[in-house]
Amino acid sequence: MIYRPFGKTDITLSQLGFGCMRFPLTERFEPTKIDEQRATNMLHYAIEHGVNYFDTAYPYHRETSEHFVGKALRDGYRKRIFLATKAPMWLVKCKDDMQKYFDEQCKRLQTDVIDMYLLHALGKNSWKTVKECDVFSFLNTMLKAGRIRYAGFSFHDELPLFKEIVDAYPWTLCLIHLNYVDDDYQAGLEGLEYAYNKGLAIVIMEPLRGGKLANNIPKQILTIIEQTGRTQTPAEFALRWVFNRPEVSCVLSGMSSLEQVKENIPFASEEHINTITPQEIELYKQARTFYRARTKVNCTQCGYCLPCPQKIAIPFILELYNDAHMYEAFGESQWMYKVFVKPENRADQCTECRECEEKCPQKIPIAECMKQAHVALKTEDV
Ligand SMILES: NC(=O)c1ccc[n+]([C@@H]2O[C@H](COP(=O)([O-])OP(=O)(O)OC[C@H]3O[C@@H](n4cnc5c(N)ncnc54)[C@H](OP(=O)(O)O)[C@@H]3O)[C@@H](O)[C@H]2O)c1
Repeated sequence: MIYRPFGKTDITLSQLGFGCMRFPLTERFEPTKIDEQRATNMLHYAIEHGVNYFDTAYPYHRETSEHFVGKALRDGYRKRIFLATKAPMWLVKCKDDMQKYFDEQCKRLQTDVIDMYLLHALGKNSWKTVKECDVFSFLNTMLKAGRIRYAGFSFHDELPLFKEIVDAYPWTLCLIHLNYVDDDYQAGLEGLEYAYNKGLAIVIMEPLRGGKLANNIPKQILTIIEQTGRTQTPAEFALRWVFNRPEVSCVLSGMSSLEQVKENIPFASEEHINTITPQEIELYKQARTFYRARTKVNCTQCGYCLPCPQKIAIPFILELYNDAHMYEAFGESQWMYKVFVKPENRADQCTECRECEEKCPQKIPIAECMKQAHVALKTEDV
């Protein structure tokens, strides 16, 4: 495993970190049903092979990820790693709430100290909460008491707000969305450089666009990857682009099988900083152009939108809608919509309450997309 400096601190992080948001399930579409045996094996394997950064959050797996991670890290594993979790800022209404959620999270995680505590998914509204609820003084107190070792934030909004937040507090780290397709999206590369120059450690989320850059790859992209002349999987092609950046401390992947853990660890055991050639940069550009032209909705299947009060299978429907365009395969997506999505879970059940839109980190106009998706995916007998 290659380790990288963690900002201005004296610790180093494995360049591959483990995102605890996409564990294998015993029941499809039921995020609370973590396959604990398989997921525990994955976490232990990763620790035994040098991964030392684990990232969870209050809402992951509909509030069961922290519980599970706490259990899986018993028997001495906790001490061997840096544990990151995030404060659910959308639930915080006053300063005391910060303490309440922090204590609850420590209990779930079976620990007294959170190594990296991040304010989750900062954007315009939650940034207001941070200021109104005096969250900085909470962070200061907890840092001083040693209950939090490093303070940070994860971000899902526009670049100017990102810069404002970076400058507003002596953060140790930030967590940003970055991959070779979304290089100027949200904080983007400009935000990466900005935060790095201000001395923050930068951790990356969604390097594989939630798996979209690793699985089911269109043949046009496979041809581009072949032209690099390297023997590499699509996942490696995508991870290489983020690992290439010297500003990055750690790249989180939300691995969902032991095979993925076993594929990503050897790749993270190679040196990748500044190894991409100018010819490859051109190939990434071509791949980016292709994906952008074919992506209808920027959904990464994170599932933050769920549960929908109408029980609509939002991420799956958006995946079918996207796939129909990506692979020019409407027939297949329509068939899957008919067979796998029950009538009561289909897009036409949307009442436009927009609860999901408030929670979506990608700010997708989900209600509008549901209308369009239903029109595109329905067949005469649906
Ligand atoms: N703070 C926030 O607002 C926020 C938001 C999003 C994420 N995060 C954090 O960042 C972490 C990383 O983001 P992410 O989970 O979206 O990461 P990602 O690496 O972009 O996507 C993970 C998915 O990629 C696929 N994958 C991983 N390795 C693979 C391999 N070797 N071969 C084939 N497929 C592979 C799997 O998809 P399949 O399951 O389809 O196989 C996996 O579920 C999250 O887990 C979470 O901890 C935070």
